[in-house]
Amino acid sequence: MKIAVLPGDGIGPEIVAQAVKVLDALRREGLNIELEQAPIGGAGYDAAGDPLPQTTLDLARAADAVLLGAVGGPQYDQLDRPLRPERGLLRIRKELNLFANLRPALLYPELASASTLKPEVVAGLDIMIVRELTGDIYFGQPRGIEMRGGERVGFNTMVYAESEVRRVAKVAFDISMKRGRKLCSVEKANVLECSELWKEVVIEVGRQYPEVELSHMYVDNAAMQLVRNPKQFDVIVTGNIFGDILSDEASMLSGSIGMLPSASLDLRNKGMYEPIHGSAPDIAGRDVANPLATMLSLGMMFRYTFADAAIADRIDGAVKRVIAQGLRTADIWTQGCERVSCSAMGDAVVGALG
Ligand code: IPM
Ligand code: MG
Repeated sequence: MKIAVLPGDGIGPEIVAQAVKVLDALRREGLNIELEQAPIGGAGYDAAGDPLPQTTLDLARAADAVLLGAVGGPQYDQLDRPLRPERGLLRIRKELNLFANLRPALLYPELASASTLKPEVVAGLDIMIVRELTGDIYFGQPRGIEMRGGERVGFNTMVYAESEVRRVAKVAFDISMKRGRKLCSVEKANVLECSELWKEVVIEVGRQYPEVELSHMYVDNAAMQLVRNPKQFDVIVTGNIFGDILSDEASMLSGSIGMLPSASLDLRNKGMYEPIHGSAPDIAGRDVANPLATMLSLGMMFRYTFADAAIADRIDGAVKRVIAQGLRTADIWTQGCERVSCSAMGDAVVGALG
């Protein structure tokens, strides 16, 4: 198993270091894991003048899976757009063709009080958002800012080819088959042609999955339903921009964005795994960040890319155990729990691997 480790910026290095502790522990058990680190984002810019240095991209291509921390920081906000950390992330997703982004939103019972929603609304929450990741308005052409009629005009293009919709819809239906067999496709077909096509193609793909109950929802309504009654959802499939927004919203249902992992997969289940939170520059380097989303991302790596459910279950189980033991980083701490540092949490997870 060759894993490219891309810590990135801000809290990225400290949270990734905790996941590497888990990999080291597995290696000591005899698992054949090769790790190689490379810079991305602001770190890539600092090292090579490029948020996705060629050597980093080559390493990621050669690896079976990529573990990423986070990118971005205020010191990079003034750079030209193509040099900004976020561009490195968008480019690696595109270059590796990681079109299917899996973002689970799962509530640990012990953390129900950390959610801003009433416990009865979120208790038992278990949603999987499948976000298309390499198309849509994120990559559509034309795009730019230009002078028109004496004023500046900014423009982007929302675009989906049916093949792009079809492949991500298939992933979502396949996942639905392994879960509650309920899939909700989210778009804005009442206004956008792009969404009209999206909906049509999802319905076509759905004919091959008669066991899955398919529904359709406009994105504005979906945003509302997610906070009104989130448990009505099992799997959600949606485009890049809607998925970006809805997955942040869904993450808050579970109390802390510091708890949620993600997987970004290509057609052959090669994947990049990253916590869905950002680089949190305000707390970087202070050993207080929550490494659990990164741990759970590692769990997803074993589940999806290495198809090793036993190890995935051990990692997920270790995370559950440390939470049950009452260990909490600052973001999820509540009265009566033990407040621990990022590195102490990492050690605890290693200890709880079983
Ligand atoms: C995410 C992030 C990225 C995105 C940014 C950092 C480019 O918000 O992974 O959700 O918009 O996709
Ligand atoms: Mg986002």
